[in-house]
Amino acid sequence: MLITVLTACSSRDDHDHPNLKTGADLFNHHCAECHGEEGTGKLVSQTPANILTRRSRDGIAKYITTSVNPQREMPVFSTMPYSEAIAIASHLLILQQLYEATPNNMKKPQVLMIAP
Ligand code: HEC
Repeated sequence: MLITVLTACSSRDDHDHPNLKTGADLFNHHCAECHGEEGTGKLVSQTPANILTRRSRDGIAKYITTSVNPQREMPVFSTMPYSEAIAIASHLLILQQLYEATPNNMKKPQVLMIAP
């Protein structure tokens, strides 16, 4: 049982994936399962949209790789190389810019599933 649990966790925080190069690839691999490929959140896992974060690129990378909050539900990717976290954070900020570039009175390209 314990082995199953450890395997399930390490598959998320496993960074032996030379075929994944862009921030989008890495985001889709590590984050989309919960947040969706567009960062709009997922009803099925009750995960909030992360494209609405107010954190900076560095702030997002630190949020991915470290946590001091015992209440936090999101896994800490403690073995993720910082450069990978920065590439993912850059991709998330691009998704955010696409979202915010659309005025509120127009149809957003992405629909928020779960607001934070
Ligand atoms: C197992 C599901 C899960 C995965 C995988 C996951 N997250 Fe999250 N994320 C959450 C949850 C749940 C929250 C809401 C905060 C909390 O309770 O942990 C969250 C919150 C966030 C936030 C908002 C933080 C804030 O306060 O501004 C950001 C940004 C974020 N996630 C980015 C990511 C990125 C980038 C990845 C991939 C490296 C990722 N998440 C992977 C579940 C997940």
